[in-house]
Amino acid sequence: MKFLENISLKPFNTFGIEVSAAYFTKISSIEELVESIDFSIEKKLECLILGGGSNVLLTKDYAGLIIKNELAGILLIKEDPSFYYVKAAAGEGWHTFVMHCIENNYAGVENLSLIPGSVGAAPLQNIGAYGVELKDVFFELEAFNITTRNIEKFSLSDCDFGYRESVFKRSLKGQYIILNVTFKLNKKHSINTRYGAIEQELKRMECTNITIKNISQAVINIRTSKLPNPKEIGNAGSFFKNPVIDESLYQQLIQANPLMPVYPSGNNQYKLAAGWLIEQCGWKGYRKDDAGCHSKQALVLVNYGNAKGQEIYDLSTEILGSVNQKFGVQLEREVNII
Ligand code: FAD
Ligand code: EPU
Repeated sequence: MKFLENISLKPFNTFGIEVSAAYFTKISSIEELVESIDFSIEKKLECLILGGGSNVLLTKDYAGLIIKNELAGILLIKEDPSFYYVKAAAGEGWHTFVMHCIENNYAGVENLSLIPGSVGAAPLQNIGAYGVELKDVFFELEAFNITTRNIEKFSLSDCDFGYRESVFKRSLKGQYIILNVTFKLNKKHSINTRYGAIEQELKRMECTNITIKNISQAVINIRTSKLPNPKEIGNAGSFFKNPVIDESLYQQLIQANPLMPVYPSGNNQYKLAAGWLIEQCGWKGYRKDDAGCHSKQALVLVNYGNAKGQEIYDLSTEILGSVNQKFGVQLEREVNII
């Protein structure tokens, strides 16, 4: 195994932030993972696993060991009359996995097409888009306990998934490396077109007998039309979560802003569109040096070239402050700040 020293992380984060890692290695087996952990202990280094680097903001040089996950393989492990159980290694690309499912007619992940990153990071924030979340198709995962070095299984309830949340982002943060995820995918297709512009896009595509491939293509078309491609403009998708507020604040805000987008989320709770709140505060299209707020989607902060992680972070702090001042709503960052 090679442990490279003083490596630029620019190619390994979709924000395209130029910072360095003291040490860097790639793993494609559990033996290599164990060797990497041994190396970090021997050198008294912190270590951080990276998949696609599409949900991190690197704010400074990393003094430890970056482990780039390249564990590969997708396998149908069993089936019953209703489901296919498909196990994917953590280093597989998420979109590659989705395309594999569509080619094999395994239904359930088509609405999650074109989300960047790896299979292994997907449970961390229970990735979601267009009315589907990872938890809807999750069966179990295996993770490496960094302290005990045991491989442990986590069921759906063990993961404690929530909106952009899981146990791996909260109480078990930094303690496990996810090795593989098994998904429970439908044999009988139930097409989910309820969210946003999917139906409109399917009409535009002139689809009649709608297949999971059509849904995937519609989602790809919508996403490409509004989200910046990280290969062109550095970004990590939504920088903040959509905030959830209670009834009294909701009543106050909707009276003052009758056109505000709202998604009732049960128990007298209401989810608001952070992008709308940020746009109302005048940030959409804002740019200071190379750090900015995207002109088509205010929830996406961008690096136009040479922004420092700290500049993007400072912009996010200004946005948090102004949304709080105008609406009394506290936004929370979705992206992992390193
Ligand atoms: P990384 O950025 O590499 O890592 C993220 C965090 O997970 C880090 O803390 C890392 O240490 C940890 N981690 C990574 N791998 C493992 C592992 N194997 N075990 C344990 N911890 C690990 N997200 C959505 O939910 N919905 C969207 O619609 C969406 N759209 C996006 C659009 C764009 C253009 C971009 C750039 C991002 C978008 N995202 C979206 C965010 C991102 O794609 C997801 O969060 C994705 O799951 C991150 O995967 P990654 O491999 O790049 O994670
Ligand atoms: N909006 C504005 N101005 C903006 C952006 C959005 O007014 O600049 C309004 C839109 O008009 C719409 C509402 O906000 O009424 C919601 O916008 P959109 O459908 O684009 O979705 P979003 O809430 O901004 C969420 C996820 C995305 C996911 C999409 C589709 C979060 C934090 N973000 O975005 O996930 O792809 O829905 O399901 O939940 C990510 O997590 O990185 C991500 C991209």
